[in-house]
Amino acid sequence: MENHPPSHQIQALGPAASGTIHVKRAFVIGHPIAHSRSPLIHGTWLAEHGVDGSYEAVDVAPDALPEFVRRVDGKDFVGGNVTIPHKQAVFALCDAVDPLARRIGAVNTLVHRDGGLFGFNTDYLGFLGNLDQQAPGWSDARSPALVLGAGGASRAIIVALRSRDIPVILLNRTRETAEALAVELGPDGISAGALDDINERAPAARLVVNTTALGMHGTRFEGFDLGRLAPDTLVTDIVYTPLDTPLLVEARARGLHTVDGLGMLLHQAVPGFAAWFGVTPQVTAELRTAVEATL
Ligand code: ATR
Repeated sequence: MENHPPSHQIQALGPAASGTIHVKRAFVIGHPIAHSRSPLIHGTWLAEHGVDGSYEAVDVAPDALPEFVRRVDGKDFVGGNVTIPHKQAVFALCDAVDPLARRIGAVNTLVHRDGGLFGFNTDYLGFLGNLDQQAPGWSDARSPALVLGAGGASRAIIVALRSRDIPVILLNRTRETAEALAVELGPDGISAGALDDINERAPAARLVVNTTALGMHGTRFEGFDLGRLAPDTLVTDIVYTPLDTPLLVEARARGLHTVDGLGMLLHQAVPGFAAWFGVTPQVTAELRTAVEATL
C-alpha cells in the first residue's frame, strides 16, 4: 500500500500562486452551502493573522461547477473548499489530483499553483490532526482500529489509519460493501466483516471510529456491548451534530477516553488555509468554542 507520512501531504499542498494579487480570495462551494461552518473557521484565522484575504461560501449548482472552477485561476480565486455534491465531479476539472485524494475518491480542497489547478483531500489530515491534538501518542503502538461504516467518510479514515500503519477492522451493516472496500484500499492491513460481528471483534481494538450517520438524531448502535472494549480504548465519532453522540456518552460513562468529531472539521481546514494564504493556523480552544456555539 502507499504509505505517505502526513507531513509529505501538507508540504505537497504548498503555497498557492501569489502573483500580483493583493486580496487573496478563497471559497467553499456546495449545494446547498448555507450551513457551512468553514467561513467562520477561515474568517477567524484571517482576522487572527491579519491576512489580506477573504473566504466566502458560494452556492454552486452542479451544472455551474465547470464555469465556477475556471475562476480558480490565481487571480479571481486562489483556491477553496469543495463539499457535497461536488467532491467527485471536481476531479475531472483539476489539472492534477493528489494520489491520496484519488485513493479516497474525493477532492475537498482546490489550490491554484504553478499555473494549474490542484485537487487534494484534507479530511484524512483532519482526522489525524484531531486525534494527535486530543489524544497525543494515540497511534504510537499501532494497535488495531475498529472502523464502523464503509461509505464516503470511511474511506478517508481508512487511508488516514493506514498512513500510520494501523491495522483496520472494517465493519459494515452490508458486509459485501466492507469487503469490497477492504480489497480496494488494502488488502494488506484491513480485515472486513459485518456490523453484527461487532461484539466479537471489539476486544482486539484500541480505537473505535464511527463513520456512519448512526448517532445523529438520537439514533444509536443496537447491540454494541461497549463492555467488550479494553479499558484503554479510545472512542471517536466523526458525527459532530450532536457533539455528544450516544456512542461517546456511553463510552465516557464506562470510563473510556473519547474524542468528538468537531476537531476533525477544524483540523481539515488547516492545510487549505496554509496553501492559500501562506500562514499555518492553529486549532485553538477559542476557535472550537466559536464553532461549537453554532451547532
Ligand atoms: P458518508 O459519505 O457520510 O460516509 P454514505 O456514503 O452514505 O455516507 O455511507 C453511509 C454508511 O453508514 C454506510 O456504511 C452505511 O451502511 P450500508 O453500506 O450497509 O448502507 C452506514 N449506515 C447508514 N445507516 C445505517 C444504519 N441505520 N445502521 C448501520 N449502518 C448504517
